[in-house]
Amino acid sequence: MNLPHHGSNPQHVYHRLHMIPPDKIIDFSVNTNPLGPPPFIKENWLDYLQDIYDYPDPEAAALVQALSEKEQLPAECILPGNGAAELIFILAQLLKDEQVLITEPAFSEYRQALEVQGAVIDSLVLREENGWDLDERIFKKMQGKKAVFICNPSNPTGRVYSRALLLEVIKQAEKTETLIICDEAFYDFTAESHSLAGDLCRFSNLIILRSVTKMYALAGIRLGYVMASAPIIKKLKKRQPHWSVNALAQRMGISCAKDTDHAEKTRGWIASEREKVKYELLSIGMTVYPSSTNYYLIAAPKEKELYPYLLKKGIVTRHTENFAGLDGNYLRIAVKLPNENQALIAALKEWKGC
Ligand SMILES: Cc1ncc(COP(=O)(O)O)c(C=O)c1O
Repeated sequence: MNLPHHGSNPQHVYHRLHMIPPDKIIDFSVNTNPLGPPPFIKENWLDYLQDIYDYPDPEAAALVQALSEKEQLPAECILPGNGAAELIFILAQLLKDEQVLITEPAFSEYRQALEVQGAVIDSLVLREENGWDLDERIFKKMQGKKAVFICNPSNPTGRVYSRALLLEVIKQAEKTETLIICDEAFYDFTAESHSLAGDLCRFSNLIILRSVTKMYALAGIRLGYVMASAPIIKKLKKRQPHWSVNALAQRMGISCAKDTDHAEKTRGWIASEREKVKYELLSIGMTVYPSSTNYYLIAAPKEKELYPYLLKKGIVTRHTENFAGLDGNYLRIAVKLPNENQALIAALKEWKGC
């Protein structure tokens, strides 16, 4: 199937499949906060707009300061970007023609950014029978590699990996100066913190990526940041275009860096809503996989054509055609608002003939 490589923008899915979109569409393929942005974004909107007439601060100094306070890290260890996606492409520039390992299934931009740089990509495909957990095979696979990409919590599985195993991976990798790039785009949706940010000062080879667009539902504004040792941040900064982080992203990012309420409220709500939906889906005989975050996988063998069935009903899920190891036989579904989740359950009940 000639499908888009990412979730969201459902109009492209219908267009590529030559389908006429129904009047009402619910987009379960986008995995941003279903509660929307925090109230302070709307309250301060006019104030943020004051900044758009001038060039944004190329250093994003106030934002870096706010992130430095949030993360308890020196400012030299933080670099904001035009979404985590931009930072992936800048990181890939450090890996030109190098051997790189990606733990998969994974966000497709890692591969795309690395291919542009001529990196030689190896893949550790995690196994369904092991719940797509990270396993000991990584120690052998990472030998001779310049960098390893690990997404934790994993997109698309929602799986969180063992902290002990990750720390061992970083420790072993440090001996050979292998970079461990840990993408924590969804770290703030999990009930307990699994972030490795607190370990950054212990490891010179650890790089952590964060996205502000997921928790704060600001995907159109574009904001993410990378945390690493000062020398790595310096190299990345040199490769970033001037004024990369726009004025609105800088102002909103400062407010979001100071937030705890919205993230806390979201975390609690997501965990409870996700488990309610899972219970209902299991009760109609769907196979639903455990997740610690704001999306989950269901089994949907390609030949049964559940994906197009749901599209016809205006339920847009994320296909898994371009996720190694999933190969289109699962669907990734975002946790949405209760009435939207009920629409999904109703469509699946109909499909199951319940
Ligand atoms: C795992 C992962 N990392 C990074 C990104 C990019 O996030 P941003 O919107 O900050 O560019 C995404 C977006 O879907 C993602 O899923």
